[in-house]
Amino acid sequence: MTMDWGMKNRLSRIIKKDGHTVMLAVDHGYFMGPTTGLEKLDEMVTPLIPYADTLMLTRGALRNYIDPAVDIPIVLRVSGGTSIIGKELLHEGIIASMEDAIRLNVSGVAFSILVGADFERDTLLGFAQIIDEAERYGIPVVAVTAVGRDMAKDARYLSLASRMAAEIGAHIVKTYYCEDFEKVVDTCPVPVVIAGGKKQPERDALQMAYNAIQAGAAGVDMGRNIFQSSNPVAMIKAVRAVVHENVTLRKHIRFSKRKASNRMFFTCGSDRQ
Ligand code: R5P
Repeated sequence: MTMDWGMKNRLSRIIKKDGHTVMLAVDHGYFMGPTTGLEKLDEMVTPLIPYADTLMLTRGALRNYIDPAVDIPIVLRVSGGTSIIGKELLHEGIIASMEDAIRLNVSGVAFSILVGADFERDTLLGFAQIIDEAERYGIPVVAVTAVGRDMAKDARYLSLASRMAAEIGAHIVKTYYCEDFEKVVDTCPVPVVIAGGKKQPERDALQMAYNAIQAGAAGVDMGRNIFQSSNPVAMIKAVRAVVHENVTLRKHIRFSKRKASNRMFFTCGSDRQ
């Protein structure tokens, strides 16, 4: 695909020279309100920013919680309109204009699609509209392949949704990790990053990220498994080591629990937290 300089420049801010990225997702408030860990979003996120390649959030969180002088590429969530207590959680539409995205100087925008749901057509047409507008201004679009509660998160479904997102025009696809993840990556012509999903033990989340990278993923767009960790800074540093330094968990990341504080610490190579 031929791309304008602006598009290439913004993409290079999101995905680093090694082809990998650690995107920190803190956009949960757009449908979940004050999510555990993000009640005071600035207090959680500010210490994590030095270890993230990209920050993914809503325009309200950006304007209210993030220092405008911060040096980190922003991926702005532009889909939403439904809530965790409503009946059609993932029947999302456009919640921020491209004009506002440009005003906020973002490096990319993110939009959720729900392939296979009754209202898939609405989300896919909204997504296509965002692609058209974003292409006009050279702004990359991250497609978030959202999954309903009764949908299988398997390679068959996730490769279908990911490939569709790319064919409609996504520049990056965010999806879930699954068995045979190589199939999802190999059949998607644009970089694939994985969401973290619900909080799980740190070791399991790191193993999932490691497996995804080995399967060809470009990185992670991880939220709860970082900001709900007992030690978010240590966790994002460990995620970073897995994504950018290809470290294996057994050999290079040592876990220990200090009884005194009951907090989990990680040691990644020589990098101590
Ligand atoms: C969900 O649609 C949001 O985009 C989240 O940012 C995304 O799910 C990643 O966060 P987590 O790692 O907590 O799943």
